[in-house]
Amino acid sequence: MSKKIEGFSKLTKAEKIHWVAETHGENPSAFKATLETYNHSDPEVQKIHDEFIENTLTNHYLPLGVAPNFLIDGKWYTIPMAIEESSVVAAASKAAKFWSTKGGFQTEVLGTEKVGQIHLNYYGPAEKLNRFFNENTSRFLGELSSITESMERRGGGIQSIQLIDKTNALEGYYQIDLRFETADAMGANFINTCLETLAKSFTSAATSTFEADELPEVVMSILSNYVPNCVVRASVSVPIEQLGANLSDAQSYAKKFVRAVHIAREEPYRAVTHNKGIMNGVDAVIIATGNDFRAVEAGVHAYASKDGKYRSLSQAKIENDTLHFWLDIPLALGTVGGLTSLHPLVKRSLEILDKPSAKELMRIVAVAGLAQNFAAVNSLVTTGIQKGHMKMHLLNLLSALGASEEEKQILSKQFSEQTVTNSAVKEALNQLRNGR
Ligand code: MEV
Repeated sequence: MSKKIEGFSKLTKAEKIHWVAETHGENPSAFKATLETYNHSDPEVQKIHDEFIENTLTNHYLPLGVAPNFLIDGKWYTIPMAIEESSVVAAASKAAKFWSTKGGFQTEVLGTEKVGQIHLNYYGPAEKLNRFFNENTSRFLGELSSITESMERRGGGIQSIQLIDKTNALEGYYQIDLRFETADAMGANFINTCLETLAKSFTSAATSTFEADELPEVVMSILSNYVPNCVVRASVSVPIEQLGANLSDAQSYAKKFVRAVHIAREEPYRAVTHNKGIMNGVDAVIIATGNDFRAVEAGVHAYASKDGKYRSLSQAKIENDTLHFWLDIPLALGTVGGLTSLHPLVKRSLEILDKPSAKELMRIVAVAGLAQNFAAVNSLVTTGIQKGHMKMHLLNLLSALGASEEEKQILSKQFSEQTVTNSAVKEALNQLRNGR
């Protein structure tokens, strides 16, 4: 049973584990043993993970796999994926192989702009704030030069700064809107440091310009995870005649595939699941490469709703007897900074991708999303999703039932010919154990 504790963060790691095990563990020593098993045996390696967050008890593992044979813009990639869902890596690999015989994936980075905002309260005359802002903008930017210098050397920096009157939305609400390029960094720290420094310059200049009762007040300064101008397109296309031996079957398949995507464009309930399938691929690569999947998820779903209705991120059409399938997705990613130089497996994942630039990683991640989406929609309009999913899930079911390696081998063979369901697997294991 849980109870209140003061000063938990000040305890040593062993004390924290002891408290959690004694307070919450049904069997405290077994509880501790599990935590210990997942703690790295090399203290130097473990220290890296301990220091990522506060109150680390042990490590929470995800499998890291690879999906090979991705042909992207004429170059071969093996894509690292960190994910627990059984069928995702297999589906990505299958889609990669399929499209590699049809010219592979094409990509285009449509923009890399990031956004930061300083949110203000101001109840005086608008023209006075505008004048103050215009007269001081170059000074504000000048005061940022020590922060922006190195980013500018790498081709990034502040692209624009603007005061926006938002009083139609909220009384007294103004905003300083900044646009950034952040080169190979995701840029969150750079952007937030620029914003907070600028907010201080703004406040100190305002204090000597405005009367106390009209003084503009900084409410908060923060980057936005909505990045509708940091977007990459991944696409595939194939002449319909190459989709099967029989042209009329290939045409029906292509029509059904496009229809399924159109349904997801128009029907939000389907769109959410459709996009979840895309994110299976996207998140797996983002986690493997140490990027912030929460930021990407938040930005992606806002983008999916950008015209007032939640829609599928991917689109499809048939034109000139060719099936076209593509995905536009906002991705603010980094290949330097953050976890990229700290987490040993993130470093290895980037190595698997030949140390890509942030733009190249955007292309790869979008392709992983499109491949995953293709695999899911393809299954949905043909065999249904459960056949492949449950086949990949079989080993999980058997492990949960305590099957031995030998039993797993025998039953994997048996279920290659039989539909996998929870009850069928249970029954088959019982029969095997009872010698039937
Ligand atoms: C399951 O993780 C993802 C799918 O539901 C995606 C989809 O329905 O398109 C299969």
